[in-house]
Amino acid sequence: MKLKITALPGDGIGPEVVREAIKVLRVVADKFNHEVEIGEHAIGGNAVEAFGSPLPEATIAACLSSKAVLLGAVGGPQYDKNPRGLKPEDGLLGLRKALQAFANLRPVIVYDELIEASPLKADIVKGCDLLIVRELLGGLYFATPRGFDEENGQWTRGFNTMSYDVAEIERIAHVAFKAAEKRRGLVASVDKANVLETSQLWRQVVERVAKDYPHIKLEHILVDNCAMQLVREPRRFDVILTENMFGDILSDEAAVISGSIGMLASASLGGPVGLYEPIHGSAPDIAGQGKANPLGTIASVALMLRYSFELEAEAHAVEKAIDAALAEGLRTADLAAGGAYISTTQMGDAVCEGITGKWSTATE
Ligand code: IPM
Ligand code: MG
Repeated sequence: MKLKITALPGDGIGPEVVREAIKVLRVVADKFNHEVEIGEHAIGGNAVEAFGSPLPEATIAACLSSKAVLLGAVGGPQYDKNPRGLKPEDGLLGLRKALQAFANLRPVIVYDELIEASPLKADIVKGCDLLIVRELLGGLYFATPRGFDEENGQWTRGFNTMSYDVAEIERIAHVAFKAAEKRRGLVASVDKANVLETSQLWRQVVERVAKDYPHIKLEHILVDNCAMQLVREPRRFDVILTENMFGDILSDEAAVISGSIGMLASASLGGPVGLYEPIHGSAPDIAGQGKANPLGTIASVALMLRYSFELEAEAHAVEKAIDAALAEGLRTADLAAGGAYISTTQMGDAVCEGITGKWSTATE
């Protein structure tokens, strides 16, 4: 099979982690006799500097003409004061929209080897395996009106709109229920229905969609309570279904269960082209030092193989190789808890070696 991919390294540690992920992709493709075609394009702050836009037309066109997109990260403190439209994050949000990627899947898996890396107690996190299904194109991030009121050139008020219509809720709810069918059959729908109208509609629509999935157990949970339960008893969750902003916040929180935000991958689906990215940001403070953990991006490649190319064995090979590298005791700085650690590149190499069969645990 030909794997036609666009890589968008972005800012900060984005390029370093994407480099490792592409290396792994080439190795796994080679092993399974696939051809990889990768074009690299600009997004984020560096794209603003080079092309005057965080999402140049050429980037959108390249993404739309490939089968899947692998993204590193965008953002940096030097761009914080950029006006709307010229923020690195606008590039990412614009891309999600252009790809119609309304369904963001963020699996949170606790690797046994990393239990000690989690700030939570081992008996709380052990065996945790949940999936956050985050709505990605609605709510506060996209709904209008939004903006500032001004007086004499000074901002006097800022406003955003939280809005969801029935169709937006239905389509993401179906994604969550379908995912639960392949997992443990539980959906926790997160909202703030005790306060927000959007959430009251959300709850009503999710109830209705649930009727199509009689075998799935649905619970509704308020977002503040969910935030607490995630660190109290994360194993009670299977699929967490939630709107855009709640999902953004809860997924960072859930990341600590896994030991490091550097471990977590994501897939953004729904349109013609899948978008894959680690959930961490551009971490400008450690960029260029070989301290970044590439495993979240490498795990995103596994999701890409699974969802965009339906290559389950290949996806599994990557995941097993991540496991194996961790089982060998290899740690990047974020996972080392002050102990010895290897570089970003060395971790990428270790995963490649796992795929080609160096680690016995990877070939089991
Ligand atoms: C994420 C990030 C993005 C988001 C930012 C960079 C716009 O935090 O993917 O979780 O808020 O969606
Ligand atoms: Mg986030």
